[in-house]
Formats: sequence, C-alpha cells, structure tokens
Amino acid sequence: MVTEQELINAAKEASKKAYAPYSNFHVGAALLTASNKIFQGCNVENASFGATNCAERTAIFSAVVNGEREFKKLVIFVDREEFTPPCGICRQVISEFSHDIEILLANNKGDIKRTNIRELLPLSFELN
Ligand code: THU
Repeated sequence: MVTEQELINAAKEASKKAYAPYSNFHVGAALLTASNKIFQGCNVENASFGATNCAERTAIFSAVVNGEREFKKLVIFVDREEFTPPCGICRQVISEFSHDIEILLANNKGDIKRTNIRELLPLSFELN
C-alpha cells in the first residue's frame, strides 16, 4: 500500500526536477494509480510559453504511456505556503480519466487541502 505521506513526498521530490527558468515556479505532482503505482510529474517550461507542460499533465501522460488509465489520487506540491490548485487545462485532462479522483494540495508547512475533480470541474465537457 502506498501511504498518503509517500505520495506527498513523491510530489515534493518531483517539484525539485521542475524546469521553470521563466516563472521560477516549481510544481511537483504525484499520481496514484488504481494498481497502486506512483507516477511523478513536474512542470516543463519553454521559451515559447504556450508549449509549457504543467506538472499534473506530465504525471498523467507518464502514467498513460506506461499503460495506466485509472487514477485514485493526485498530490500537487509547491514549496510555498499558498496551495496550488490545478489550472483549467489540467482539470480537463484529469477529468478525461476520472470523475472520482481525490486531489490533495500540499504546501511547505505540511498542510493539506483536500478536494476532488467534481468540485474543481463541475459540469465537465465530454464527447459521447
Ligand atoms: N503550473 C503547473 O505546473 N501546475 C499548476 O497547477 C499551475 C501552473 C506551472 C506552469 C508554469 O510552468 C508555472 O507553473 C507558472 O504558471
């Protein structure tokens, strides 16, 4: 079993890998799959700013290429006191794979704010 603290530590570790020379805003994400594996993500910026990939999507895409599509929990960590909720694009990408995923926002004081994708993206868009 993966503990919540392990997942938080994985997000924190991932934030140290962020490539963010333009914003200097280092985000780490850790995604727990239904098969109890952890996939880490960090933001990867680009001189053409729109090409930047957020930490959350990096983690999700890494999981998908490894054959995982069912996700239970996502932790997002930034080394500051304010929590960092996922941007709109990431909310849409998260909701593609799960409507039940729990999302934990972690700060540098060891506090956690718990939310979920239904709360962050109500009435989400789907093609069906
Ligand atoms: N960013 C993330 O990685 N995740 C979020 O939830 C919010 C924003 C990144 C994108 C960019 O590299 C930097 O933070 C500033 O927007």
